[in-house]
Formats: sequence, structure tokens, C-alpha cells
Amino acid sequence: MANLPIRPRRNRRHESIRSLVRETSLAPSDFIWPLFVKEGEGEREPIGSMPGCFRFGTDVLVEEAREAFALGVPAVALFPALVEGLKDPMAKESANPHGLLQRPIRALKEKVPGLTVITDVAMDPYSSDGHDGIVRDGEILNDETLDVLAAMSVSQAEAGADMVAPSDMMDGRVGYIRAALDETGHEGVGILAYSAKYASAFYGPFREALDSAPKSGDKKTYQMDPANVREAVREVLLDVEEGADMVMVKPGMPYLDVIAAVRANVEVPVAAYQVSGEYSMLMAAGQMGWLDAGAVMTESLVAFKRAGADMVLTYAAKEVARALNG
Ligand code: PBG
Repeated sequence: MANLPIRPRRNRRHESIRSLVRETSLAPSDFIWPLFVKEGEGEREPIGSMPGCFRFGTDVLVEEAREAFALGVPAVALFPALVEGLKDPMAKESANPHGLLQRPIRALKEKVPGLTVITDVAMDPYSSDGHDGIVRDGEILNDETLDVLAAMSVSQAEAGADMVAPSDMMDGRVGYIRAALDETGHEGVGILAYSAKYASAFYGPFREALDSAPKSGDKKTYQMDPANVREAVREVLLDVEEGADMVMVKPGMPYLDVIAAVRANVEVPVAAYQVSGEYSMLMAAGQMGWLDAGAVMTESLVAFKRAGADMVLTYAAKEVARALNG
């Protein structure tokens, strides 16, 4: 017998002991479910590179969101899949009061009133250039873009959005949007800022889902360099100063150190985004029979919480909520 007075395994002997000493919990209330909306009724169009994800027509989207809410998922984040003909260089369609995003916002607030509706603020789903800002001579214009983002935010708030989530990475946009919301009487509408958003190849499947890949160039002049973490803290602190109610780190799993650094530096709630490529990798390996997709999904989501995230945007929200409800 080894003389071992300290045996960490004693705290792992039974599930009930393990549950007492567990440091991190995962619950459906931690999740925000990102959803893609398209025109039409009864639509449920599968997204090839995201097994289990669909572009929903508004009516189907409302039913799906209702089910998720009943499972304990408190919020959805909406993204519009526009037909190419509605896209233009100024993303004009983004402020259409009867637009593709505005209609499901209204429908959700009417039919599932307790659900928090978060909306994406960025030009790319509406832009014929596929960028998050106005493009002129190959440059992404910062200050000119702020007006488009502000109008988009106000339009979403007018339709009933509870929070707007700028994902564009233009400088100064949080303060600019805050002022625009306040001036139009939407002081109760929150801002979830995509503060530390990296120029990541993990967004590939999402860009397929919305057909929103940049037509030329890349997003490296506005999204962050994956090599940087101090810069993430700087971005987050700026957004908090400008009035962000919550901040986000994105992508998630390859950036757990960034989540931890952000957590250590702000008091506002921190969200992390398990982006499309992360989701697709786990699901694809599951389909190949190489990994247990459900188990790796849950393990990954616990890791986000352990790193310091208060909430996680995940395409698996509804399925994991179902599993957690057991
Ligand atoms: C665009 C936006 C992107 C995502 C959310 N909002 C893609 C991009 O910046 O090119 C990615 C989400 C994902 O990959 O799941 N403003």
C-alpha cells in the first residue's frame, strides 16, 4: 500500500460526490440559439456544411424557437439569408421595416413574448460586396458605415428586438448605435457587442449558409488577428466604455484563453460564440463515427463556461438543452 494521505480520486468516487465538487455547470439557460431565416412559408432548407441546421421560413422559425424556449433556451440570435437580388453596396434592405429580419422579430415577440430576440448588426448579409462595411476602391470605410449600422439597429429595435448585436468590428460602432437607439426612444434595447471578433477561417460554413462570403479581399482590416490577446482586452474595454451591455469573444473553442482574459478584465457579462466551423467539425466527426457528437458538444460547451463565459451562442442549443433536460 502506498502511503498517500492525499488522494484526489476520493472526490470522484460516485456521481453524487462529483456533482458536489463540480466547479462549472451547464444549463439550457446558458444558451443563445443562432437561427437563419429565409423567405417563404413552411421552409426548412438544410445547410449542407452544417448538419442539423436549416434556413427556416418565418413560420417554421417561430415554432422552432417556441420549442427551444420551452426547453429552457432563453434567447435566439437571428441572421437573414437574402436572395442576391436584394443585396446592394449600401445594404439598403437592412433598414426595410418589412424586411426579412424585421418580420420574424415581430412574429417572435408576438407569439413567444418571453423569448429574448437578439439581432445581428452588420452589412454582410445585405451587401453585394459581402463585407461588413461600405467598400470604396477596395477599402472598408469605417465612419460612413456607422450610419448604416445605426439605421439597421434602429430598424431592428423598432420591430421589437430586445438586443442588437453588432458583429461588424467597425471602430466606434457601439457608442454610435447606443446614441441612435437612445435618440429614437429605444433606451431599453441592449447591445451585445461582438467585441473580440477574429478574422477566422472557422466562419466558412456560416458564409455558405448566408451566401455572404466577401466578393473580394478578406476581413483582416477590421476583424482581429488570431495571434492577439491583449488587443482583445483593449477592444472589449472600449466597447464597455461606449455602452455595451454584454461583450462577446468569437470564435470560441480555439480562443478559450481570450475568454479567460476578457472575463478577468470586465464586469459585464461575457458571451462566447461556438461558430459554424466549430459546430461543423464536431458534427462531421460524429457523422463519420469518429466521435460521439453529443458528448463532444457538451464537453466543449462546459469548456466555454469553465474559461469564463456566462453564455454561449451555439447551433446545438436546442439539442443540448433537450439532452440536459434528460
Ligand atoms: C458577419 C458574421 C459572421 C458570423 C456572424 N456574423 C461571419 C463573418 O464575419 O464573416 C460568423 C458566425 C459563424 O461562423 O457561426 N457579420
